[in-house]
Amino acid sequence: MNTDSYSKKIKRIIFTESEIKSRIAETGERIAMEYEGKPLLIIGILNGSFIFMSDLCRAIPIPCEVAFMRTQSYFGGTVSSGSVDILMDVDQDLSQYNVIIAEDIIDTGRTLAEVVRFLRARNPKSLKIITLLDKPERRVTELNADISLFTIPDVFVVGYGLDCGELYRNLPYIAEYNVEE
Ligand code: IMP
Ligand code: MG
Repeated sequence: MNTDSYSKKIKRIIFTESEIKSRIAETGERIAMEYEGKPLLIIGILNGSFIFMSDLCRAIPIPCEVAFMRTQSYFGGTVSSGSVDILMDVDQDLSQYNVIIAEDIIDTGRTLAEVVRFLRARNPKSLKIITLLDKPERRVTELNADISLFTIPDVFVVGYGLDCGELYRNLPYIAEYNVEE
């Protein structure tokens, strides 16, 4: 794809780099207050959460470990498929940790519902969910995040780790993707 047609798919910027940065700073402080003195493991869901995770963990001023899992639920399109596979697991003994799952976006909630069920079975000391973006209008499960940084309407977004067909993850902001043209 050439750079021109690549850029044309960006409809508008929804959250700028500095807006994201300041929400993450607040969230890091909030997590530090809640988990001070407790063994903390943050599990990022790849690939979408990789940028969020790297900024979030640096905003948490207490000891914490990070790990990643990989799931597959989207298969390259803009419509969720409804089935979720665990492609890569974490190797920590979760019974030793207070776990926070870090996700890029909760859409239907199917991916996280499956991940939560999978991780809860390993008896973590506690389990919470943090999501960068939340699209509550699209939810088909009971699942909700404990901490959600931004709530958005039912639009497809890219950037700051989120992709469309594996592209746009490297945009430093979050933008609405033009699904029409
Ligand atoms: P869910 O299982 O429907 O909640 O889908 C969650 C996954 O779908 C996220 O981890 C994203 O990878 C992907 N997804 C959902 N909405 C968007 C979007 O607007 N932009 C990019 N990816 C999305
Ligand atoms: Mg994802």
